Amino acid sequence: MAPTADDRRRRLGVLISGRGSNLQSIVDAIGRGRLDATIGVVISNREDAAGLARAREAGVDAVWLNPRDWAGRDAYDRALAGMLAARGVDLVCLAGFMRLVGAPLLDAFPDRVLNIHPSLLPSFPGLDAQRQALEHGVRISGATVHLVTGELDAGPIVLQAAVPVNDDDTVETLSARILVEEHRIYPEAIRLVLDGGWTVEGRRFVRRRP
Ligand code: GRF
Repeated sequence: MAPTADDRRRRLGVLISGRGSNLQSIVDAIGRGRLDATIGVVISNREDAAGLARAREAGVDAVWLNPRDWAGRDAYDRALAGMLAARGVDLVCLAGFMRLVGAPLLDAFPDRVLNIHPSLLPSFPGLDAQRQALEHGVRISGATVHLVTGELDAGPIVLQAAVPVNDDDTVETLSARILVEEHRIYPEAIRLVLDGGWTVEGRRFVRRRP
């Protein structure tokens, strides 16, 4: 059978644990023709992730992979890698996936796993980044898209966007301001990575000069 146009499009696998608003921004960017890709599968480690329903509404295959069905982290990561490979995924996008991903997945997709984090890394890695920023008293925070390595939130930075932190901000108001930027830069970073013409030098993501 001759390949269809869809078969030739770059395939994303999106891993989620919750709300799925970044997943939605990817779906929307594809729908508006701003991102030339297709989503091969959405996988959640949580059955109740609202993003699973969003994916299904968008006609995307959405799967709950229960970590309890595997004996430990490596076995689970191997299962994830196997499912992503079976769907022909080229690039894995973590979008609020609340688990550390380890060697079995990273080795299967070398420099092909992206994450979005709600701070200007390397400031405030880990959980509750917006609360960390507020408590530290920074005047600027933001969002970062980076390649995922074995070190938490420390891989080569693809794109960042900054937002002001206001005196009267709460975790909720700051998170909402950052989220607007997340939704803007994640599809853009995915496009950059899929388009190629970049290398990793040390810990830097380096784009070829035009
Ligand atoms: C986002 O703030 C993302 O940066 C962080 O987790 C949150 C996920 O939100 N990693 P959503 O599920 O995409 O709405």
